[in-house]
Amino acid sequence: MHTLSLLALGAFGPLAASAAECTREFLQTSADSLVAAQTAGDPSLLTPVSEALDYRENFAEADFQAGILTTAITIDHSRHSLDTTQCATYTELISATGAEPYVLGVQMYFTDNAVSKIDTLITTTGDWLFNATGTLHWASQEEWATIPEEARDSREVIQAAADAYCDIFSDKSVEVPWGYPCARLEGGAYTGNGGPDDKCDVGIPSGVALTDRRYVIDETVGAVSVFLSFATIPDSHEFRVENGKLRFVHTLTVMSARGNGKSAGRRRGRGIMSPPSK
Ligand SMILES: *[C@@H]1O[C@H](CO)[C@@H](O)[C@H](O)[C@H]1NC(C)=O
Repeated sequence: MHTLSLLALGAFGPLAASAAECTREFLQTSADSLVAAQTAGDPSLLTPVSEALDYRENFAEADFQAGILTTAITIDHSRHSLDTTQCATYTELISATGAEPYVLGVQMYFTDNAVSKIDTLITTTGDWLFNATGTLHWASQEEWATIPEEARDSREVIQAAADAYCDIFSDKSVEVPWGYPCARLEGGAYTGNGGPDDKCDVGIPSGVALTDRRYVIDETVGAVSVFLSFATIPDSHEFRVENGKLRFVHTLTVMSARGNGKSAGRRRGRGIMSPPSK
């Protein structure tokens, strides 16, 4: 322990000390180890993992030792959000050039400096608008850079922007803080072209409740990951918020009924809803 931490311990008691232990560096290292584990197909490279790990794939309990991390996947693009307030991370992983295309979203929660909960969403061919080439193409053009401290939104403002967007699916009277420009990346489809006229307030379905929302928020990049049930479908909505307004929206929607564990991501079940016809 550093001298400074010891001073903090003395001055503020154990609460301040334990809160201070969840640093961005720790979260970054852990999230990077997730990318290494997925690339190698070796769950043991993810560190540090709690003995009492709560592990889920597509919102169903699964066996961590036999899950998607046992599949070596070429990762073309990854991006982390680091939430030091909750001690949690969100990672978007895109694989377009490997044997099988994947886009994964992973929320990890930490307790006592070990991963205690992992929620992984696995999308591949057959999922809603899925196109990993498209996802990679658009995601790598977007700017999710660190926002200068004086220009950052609070966690509350960032979450409120996400909630407004999620609420409008069931209540058209909600005022959503649309940014202009704003672009939505859904599966692999893009609502814009990366230009100044891109808009997000187009073609939003109605009459759908987006429930059971779990947030990971990183104010330094204005990002919020929301895992939710889209009606009954496992879904991820991630937002980049700039000056209180929506700039980017990324969605992953799991349509295929897959087995967990060993077969995760390898079986092609019939979805409960059909993707739109081409
Ligand atoms: C997937 O996205 C790429 C890049 O945007 C595009 O060229 C391609 O036509 C798309 N494929 C399908 C099947 O829509």
